[in-house]
Amino acid sequence: MSKNVLFISGSPRAGANTKAVINVVYRLLRDKQGNSQLLDLHRHVLPLFNGDPAQQELDTVAQLQKLAQEADAFFIVTPEYHNGISGALKNALDFLNSDYFKGKPVAIAAAAGGGKGGINALNNLRLVLRGLQANVLPAQFVADPGHIDEHGIYVDESGVQTLQTLVLDLASALQTEARV
Ligand SMILES: Cc1cc2nc3c(=O)[nH]c(=O)nc-3n(C[C@H](O)[C@H](O)[C@H](O)COP(=O)(O)O)c2cc1C
Repeated sequence: MSKNVLFISGSPRAGANTKAVINVVYRLLRDKQGNSQLLDLHRHVLPLFNGDPAQQELDTVAQLQKLAQEADAFFIVTPEYHNGISGALKNALDFLNSDYFKGKPVAIAAAAGGGKGGINALNNLRLVLRGLQANVLPAQFVADPGHIDEHGIYVDESGVQTLQTLVLDLASALQTEARV
């Protein structure tokens, strides 16, 4: 049976480096899992979560929740903003709860400013996903800005190989789940 993987690009910026990374893994996994969906938080603009039940009726919120509910697994890429995940990604996750994530495998990666950037955002994302009871894979990846060209394409071959390993980990976690 084909599985659904939801790819989330967690940057609110146009031309985001995060999107360059999600494009790589989306293409890699789409070939293995036909039902992959891509949610780009630059295009999919959500209101600021305020707990008002009326927000649940909004199309953007309902679409997010539908995609998350239908997903068997997630691949989430976040930018590192001030040592954490983007506000856009945290806000999107605030519209969800553990019913959407419990036990589902999640692969994570970050786009950062270079040097030692990215690790804090990934640790922050793990903590948030722990709150959602997701099954976050141990491996992770950080993309440096120098590895994204002027057309927004991620071009570093060794990075692509590491991302491929992450994709294989996610596909394998999905298969293991299917056997349980
Ligand atoms: C508000 C803001 C805060 C940032 N803080 C960090 C940081 O703490 N560490 C880091 O490595 N890069 C930081 N950066 C750089 C971004 O992580 C880097 O530009 C990344 O590629 C942005 O991803 P995006 O293009 O997908 O938005 C920051 C950028 C912005 C806009």
